[in-house]
Order: sequence, then C-alpha cells, then structure tokens
Amino acid sequence: MKKIVVIHGPNLNLLGQRDSSVYGDLTLDDINVKIMDSSAQYGVDCEIVQFNSEVDIINKIQSLKKEIGLVINPAAYTHTSVAIRDAIEAITPPVIEVHLSNVHAREDFRHTSLTASVCKGQILGLGWQGYVLAMDYLMRDYLDRNGT
Ligand code: DQA
Repeated sequence: MKKIVVIHGPNLNLLGQRDSSVYGDLTLDDINVKIMDSSAQYGVDCEIVQFNSEVDIINKIQSLKKEIGLVINPAAYTHTSVAIRDAIEAITPPVIEVHLSNVHAREDFRHTSLTASVCKGQILGLGWQGYVLAMDYLMRDYLDRNGT
C-alpha cells in the first residue's frame, strides 16, 4: 500500500506542555489523530514517528524510497542541521517542511532554515493544520503524476 511518512523532530513530544500561545493546545497524539484521519480519507497508509535525536531522523529519512512523500517538522534541527538537509536532498520522495509556529515572527535564529531549500515546499504558522495541508498536497501531487 502507498504510504506517507511524517517525522516530528525534537521536543514535539512535549506539545501540550510547551508554550500554547506559540504551539497551540493540542498534544502530539491529538495532532497525529488529525494526520491519520486525513490519510484515511485518501485511503493511504501513514507512518508517524517522533525522534529527539538527529541520528534517528537521518536514518528514517535515508530509509525512504518509494513512499508518496515525507512531511517533516525538523523542529530545532531546522536551524542547525546540515546532516538532515543532506539526507533530505539525497532521497527521491517529495518532502514538505512544516512548522506549527510562524518562525519568521520569532527570534532571529529561527529565521533560517537549512532544510527548506531541499524541500518541495514549506508550510508554517498554521498550527496543526499545516500537517493536513502538507498531506493534501502530497496526495494531489501523487495523483497528478500517477493518475488515480
Ligand atoms: C518549530 C519551530 C522551531 O523553531 C522550534 O525549535 C520547534 C518547533 C515549529 O513547529 O514551530 O521546536 O519547528
């Protein structure tokens, strides 16, 4: 079965306890239910993982080959990780970068994304809906390229 993979980066397991004015009230489990609902609507499989470690994120990205696409919120690694950037660049499936918050309205160090330039696109500042929009894009893009 065709599959979309979602990777949540470091500290996103703490959603619900992190600043809700920035990240909203939903826990990661709540967000994952919305992502799974969206994939069920398209009848595709969805694998969702969360890693605090850069190594685990890189290994998961490297394992992707024939998936419909990857939705990734690299969290703080967005701003620091050349290694995650290079892993994204090396794989074939399209990658969408998602951020819950509008990083451009926050501290200067969050304004740079090392990963965005190797992603198909970036969605930010729209809270949990960003994940669902990214899923939507990947499915429509896949159907456009491969028919129904
Ligand atoms: C984040 C933004 C990052 O700057 C931050 O380090 C995060 C979450 C977001 O989803 O808004 O952990 O990726």
